[in-house]
Amino acid sequence: MRTLLRLGAYQLHFAGVRPHAAVAETVALAPKRLRAFANAILRNVSRTAMVWPDRATELSYPQWMFDLLTAELGDDALPVMQRMNEPPPVSVRDDGYVQDRASQWVAASVGAAPGERVLDMCAAPGGKATAMAAREGADGAFVVAADVAAQRVHLIGSNVARLSAAVAPVVADGTSSPFVAGSFDRVLLDAPCSGLGALRRRPDARWRITAPDIDNLVLLQGALLNQAATLVRPGGALVYSVCTLTAAESINHTVPDGLDVDTAEPTGAWEPFAHGWRVLPHHHDTDGMVLIRYRRRS
Ligand SMILES: C[S@@+](CC[C@H](N)C(=O)[O-])C[C@H]1O[C@@H](n2cnc3c(N)ncnc32)[C@H](O)[C@@H]1O
Repeated sequence: MRTLLRLGAYQLHFAGVRPHAAVAETVALAPKRLRAFANAILRNVSRTAMVWPDRATELSYPQWMFDLLTAELGDDALPVMQRMNEPPPVSVRDDGYVQDRASQWVAASVGAAPGERVLDMCAAPGGKATAMAAREGADGAFVVAADVAAQRVHLIGSNVARLSAAVAPVVADGTSSPFVAGSFDRVLLDAPCSGLGALRRRPDARWRITAPDIDNLVLLQGALLNQAATLVRPGGALVYSVCTLTAAESINHTVPDGLDVDTAEPTGAWEPFAHGWRVLPHHHDTDGMVLIRYRRRS
């Protein structure tokens, strides 16, 4: 009955169905003994102007997430949340891979150069790894694309084969990395995160993630960041990125031992965010992301 009443209310206030039709069709679906009840409620609903109980409900965000984004983003919070309720634009790279523009900016900001060895520590499905790597017959970097999830490493393999990219997919847990210390010119840590900047790609994600999940992700990110730092050669670069907007998952992480923050402006339309960089979804119609650049001391 509750589901029917919701469907009826939706038709009345959002779907533009004529009131008598919305009421009659919904009542007809109700069990006989409840039809008078359904009819009374829906007729009342049709005569009543709709009032949202609060902004979080209106924008369809869990209250804790609404509060968190409001506290973190201030005046940008509402436009960010509104934009993340709209479908994302489709952006296609020159090689045909579909990838959000801010993700392309992250890959470009790693600055992988011909002949360099690059590690993408959390690489599946391989979007950024394939963006950073050389192509068959062309100069470029060699990328080791690692991920802890074996089935997702399979996705990297398919993308690498399709794009003929100089990428070696590897199943590896970044928190206990199998690689030799200092063996990469550059490391990208595109860390697992709450995804609060990319909610429009997974409209249901906001209802699955919880505040304690973020605390656990922060711990995992910290462990990955410290491991990633050891793998960069002296003078080499580490880029940390997340598709979320919270400070806890980005700028609040301690700078790893032996690394300095690199304040050089990254490629793309980033804005300064403490010692890192951030892009908000409504500014350039991209996913929201944070990026931090580090360099290992020589
Ligand atoms: C944001 S996604 C990476 C997206 C990818 N960089 C791209 O551009 O296509 C984060 C990835 O981290 C992986 N991951 C989670 N925990 C990990 C760990 N301990 N070690 C390595 N990868 C991990 C997840 O399986 C997931 O594929």
